[in-house]
Amino acid sequence: MYSPVLPTKPWFFITVALILILHAPKSVFGNDYSSCSRLFSCGSLEDIGYPFWGTDRPESCGFPGFGLTCRGDQVPEMTIEEVTYQVLEINNNTRNIRLARSDYWDNICPQYLRNTTLISGLAYSSDTQDIKLYYKCPSIPSTSSVLPTQFNCSINGADNIIGYFVTRSITDPLIGSDSLGTCNNSVMVPLSTSQVSTVEANPNSGNLTQALRDGFDLQWSADASTNCEPCLNSGGQCGQDINSAQFRCYCTNGTFPNNCNGTPLSPAA
Ligand SMILES: *[C@@H]1O[C@H](CO)[C@@H](O)[C@H](O)[C@H]1NC(C)=O
Ligand SMILES: *[C@@H]1O[C@H](CO)[C@@H](O)[C@H](O)[C@H]1NC(C)=O
Ligand SMILES: *[C@@H]1O[C@H](CO)[C@@H](O)[C@H](O)[C@H]1NC(C)=O
Ligand SMILES: *[C@@H]1O[C@H](CO)[C@@H](O)[C@H](O)[C@H]1NC(C)=O
Ligand SMILES: *[C@@H]1O[C@H](CO)[C@@H](O)[C@H](O)[C@H]1NC(C)=O
Ligand SMILES: *[C@@H]1O[C@H](CO)[C@@H](O)[C@H](O)[C@H]1NC(C)=O
Repeated sequence: MYSPVLPTKPWFFITVALILILHAPKSVFGNDYSSCSRLFSCGSLEDIGYPFWGTDRPESCGFPGFGLTCRGDQVPEMTIEEVTYQVLEINNNTRNIRLARSDYWDNICPQYLRNTTLISGLAYSSDTQDIKLYYKCPSIPSTSSVLPTQFNCSINGADNIIGYFVTRSITDPLIGSDSLGTCNNSVMVPLSTSQVSTVEANPNSGNLTQALRDGFDLQWSADASTNCEPCLNSGGQCGQDINSAQFRCYCTNGTFPNNCNGTPLSPAA
């Protein structure tokens, strides 16, 4: 005989399965507290926490834009405004991060020309100086023996591209020419001040590449420490609400605005 119970049974199981799946992430895969307890490690970088995130650490465990990746399981990298940098060092105590442009690692003729630009929460350390590379330049008769320094590139198989680099402003009288203004493109890259003197002592593209690999220093916002310490001290893990960019303290008993005491914004799962 026809039984009306049978056709409804699959729906019952689907509903139960849906309820289980919807509730699974918090209980099976862990909540924000446990996911932000996982630290980022890659190559020479070990146990990196807030305000950084990446691989196992979700974005809600750090600042927007402070995502790290691990190329080939070996090379820690950070991409800021479309430019990828190797992360050479992260110092938790001084809030210092040392970066080197990945696209300038092998030579000073990258495929795409892009300036170094920063995002909110990052600032150059005082030991950093910009140098400027000019591309697609006319051949400038060398009037000065020191500056600017010529180099040649073949970008994307294009014809020989003439470039120049300078470690000072082109209005500096030492350059003695504003011909660089007729170059079709330019890129600013930061160097540490000590490397600038090394390059100036022996200006050539090989030495500049070496200096760029040495990297430059940035500091992240002091807000990170002032917000995070009370949270850590109360047994929580620091993070951020991705939508509002507001600080969050993830605790075993819920998510709090400052530390694990007081009224939770949302209770633990
Ligand atoms: C980074 O600093 C926090 C305190 O601000 C500390 O709890 C954490 O262990 C530090 N991580 C490392 C790798 O030093
Ligand atoms: C880099 O910045 C300089 C000065 O702000 C600008 O003139 C130049 O066009 C920029 N280069 C690129 C590749 O965007
Ligand atoms: C610079 O660009 C202009 C116009 O796009 C072009 O006519 C000129 O040949 C370019 N110069 C060089 C050195 O590539
Ligand atoms: C760049 O190429 C030109 C010829 O196209 C050559 O005269 C010049 O010496 C080269 N410069 C460097 C730095 O290699
Ligand atoms: C810079 O280049 C010169 C060759 O022009 C070389 O003798 C010197 O060792 C290089 N310096 C550094 C620091 O690489
Ligand atoms: C949450 O747990 C922490 C310890 O992990 C405790 O100190 C705190 O008082 C708790 N907060 C609330 C609101 O229960």
